[in-house]
Amino acid sequence: MITFDRVKPLTKYLFQQKVAHKTIGLVPTMGALHQGHFSLIAASQKQNDITVCSIYVNPTQFNQISDLKKYPRNLAEDKTKLRSLGCDVLFCPSDQEMYPQPTELKFDFGSLASHMEGKHRPGHFNGVATVVAKLFNQVKPDRAYFGQKDLQQYVIIQQMVRDLGFSLTLQQVPIIRETDGLALSSRNQRLTRKQRQVAPQLYQGLKLAAMQMKEGAGIPKARRKVRDHMKKFREIELEYFQIVNADNLHPINGCENNKVALCMAAYLGKVRLIDNLIIIC
Ligand code: PAJ
Repeated sequence: MITFDRVKPLTKYLFQQKVAHKTIGLVPTMGALHQGHFSLIAASQKQNDITVCSIYVNPTQFNQISDLKKYPRNLAEDKTKLRSLGCDVLFCPSDQEMYPQPTELKFDFGSLASHMEGKHRPGHFNGVATVVAKLFNQVKPDRAYFGQKDLQQYVIIQQMVRDLGFSLTLQQVPIIRETDGLALSSRNQRLTRKQRQVAPQLYQGLKLAAMQMKEGAGIPKARRKVRDHMKKFREIELEYFQIVNADNLHPINGCENNKVALCMAAYLGKVRLIDNLIIIC
C-alpha cells in the first residue's frame, strides 16, 4: 500500500495509473475503520484495478467542536488494517493540505438537507459536500463508494454529482451490523457498557415500524409505535424518526409500492447514533 499525505504526489501517481488504463475506486472515510468501511473497500476492489481509501476527519462537517475533538483517531491501526485488506492507496492529508485557505463557497441542497441530519446538524452537509468534492477532484475516481448507513449523505452527494457533472459512478453499499443488530459506527466505541446493551434498540424500533407498515398500519400509527418503543429505554433519547421516499427523501403520506426509508437518530448520553432501514411497502 502506498501512503500519501500530499495532494500533488497523489494526483501524479493516479494520473500515471490512468494513463496505464487502470480504473480507480475511491472510499472516503474519517478513519477508526471497522467492518462497515471494509465492505466499501471490498466492493471497490471487486470493481476497480486500484482502490484509494482516504482517511480525513473533516472539521467543516462537525457542527459541534466537542464531537470533532472526541472523534476516534487511530491512524497506525487503520494503516495495518488497510494493508492486510490489500488496499492499494491510502490518502491521509493534514488540515493544511485539505484546506490551505478557508473555503467561501457554500452548498445549498434545498429540501434535501432541510430535515433529518441537515436540520439537526446545521452546516454538516455543506462540510461533507466540500470535502467530498475536493476528494473527487484530487482522486478523479471512476467509482466512489458510500454506505447506506448515511443515507441522506448518499442522496446529497448524488445530487452534487449530477448538478456539477462529476464524471464518476456512485455506488451504495448496504449497512453492516453487529450480530445484535447495532449498525457499525466509529462512534460505538464511545458507548458505555449499559448504553451498548440498549443501542440495538434503534434497529429494533426500525424493524417494529417496518412490520407495522407491512401490515398496513398507517404512517402516524407506525411513528407512534416507534416513539412508544424508544421511550421504554431511559438511556435512549430519540431525536427524530422519519418515514421518507428512499430515493429523494421526501416525506411520504402512504405506501404505494414505494421504496421507503425509515430513518432514525438518537442520543445515548452524549453519543449520537443514526440508523435506517429501507423497505418496499
Ligand atoms: P465515515 O463516517 O468514516 O464513513 C465512511 C463511509 O463508511 C460512509 O460512506 C459511511 O456511510 C460508510 N459506513 C459507515 N458505517 C457503515 C456501516 N455500518 N455499514 C456500511 N457502511 C458504513 O461518512 C463519512 O465518514 C464522512 O462524512 C465522509 C464521507 C468521509 C466525508 O468526510
